[in-house]
Amino acid sequence: MKIINIISLAIVALLCAGVVLAAEEKQGAAQPYDENTYGPAAPIIWEKPVKAVVFSHKTHTMGAGLGCDSCHGGLFEQESGAAEKKPDFTMDKIYKGGYCGACHDGQTAFAAKTRCAACHIGARGLKRLRQAESDRTAPAASH
Ligand code: HEC
Ligand code: HEC
Ligand code: HEC
Repeated sequence: MKIINIISLAIVALLCAGVVLAAEEKQGAAQPYDENTYGPAAPIIWEKPVKAVVFSHKTHTMGAGLGCDSCHGGLFEQESGAAEKKPDFTMDKIYKGGYCGACHDGQTAFAAKTRCAACHIGARGLKRLRQAESDRTAPAASH
């Protein structure tokens, strides 16, 4: 009897999660991403010193609720690739609180010492991302 109760509760919980997920997906599709409010939609990609690291405005502004000033008040230029030109755009500097490390310190956001692959998508990840982008922007006739 008890076991049956537990099982049915688990099933109900799973069903609810499914409904919530479906609703969120619908909402996401209905609301177009507003670049004026949340920053550029296209991912920022760096290939130096290592290939490749990706940054998403969406997850930081729309997702984490950060304002433009928290990054564009000295940490980063509003110019894709600017940081990449600087010789200190390295993990050492990040671990010491520079660039992404200003927040990715295990307090404000997950520590840069962990989850390397969250930022580092590698050469393969970059290839996949570029492929997905060109699939999305290619005219329908070319398919
Ligand atoms: C969490 C950090 C962060 C926040 C918050 C943030 N940005 Fe950015 N933004 C970046 C980074 C990193 C770059 C790339 C800089 C580089 O490559 O040196 C960038 C680049 C840009 C660029 C240049 C894009 C290009 O293709 O050249 C624009 C425009 C921009 N941001 C606008 C905004 C606006 C508007 C907001 C607020 C709605 C915002 N950003 C909030 C980190 C942030
Ligand atoms: C102003 C603070 C701030 C800066 C600077 C910042 N981040 Fe974040 N980042 C956050 C917060 C807050 C979150 C959400 C909480 C978490 O995931 O720990 C987040 C989440 C992320 C995530 C997880 C997003 C997801 O899909 O779940 C990635 C990846 C990431 N940041 C990469 C970067 C990179 C790369 C840089 C540097 C170019 C950077 N961040 C700079 C605050 C920042
Ligand atoms: C919050 C995002 C983030 C996380 C997490 C992160 N990195 Fe990085 N990493 C960067 C950025 C940004 C650069 C500079 C841009 C580039 O090289 O493309 C970089 C550059 C590097 C470089 C080349 C420069 C150097 O310091 O020698 C190495 C190697 C590296 N990361 C290793 C790692 C390892 C290993 C981990 C996990 C223990 C890690 N990174 C976690 C963002 C991150």
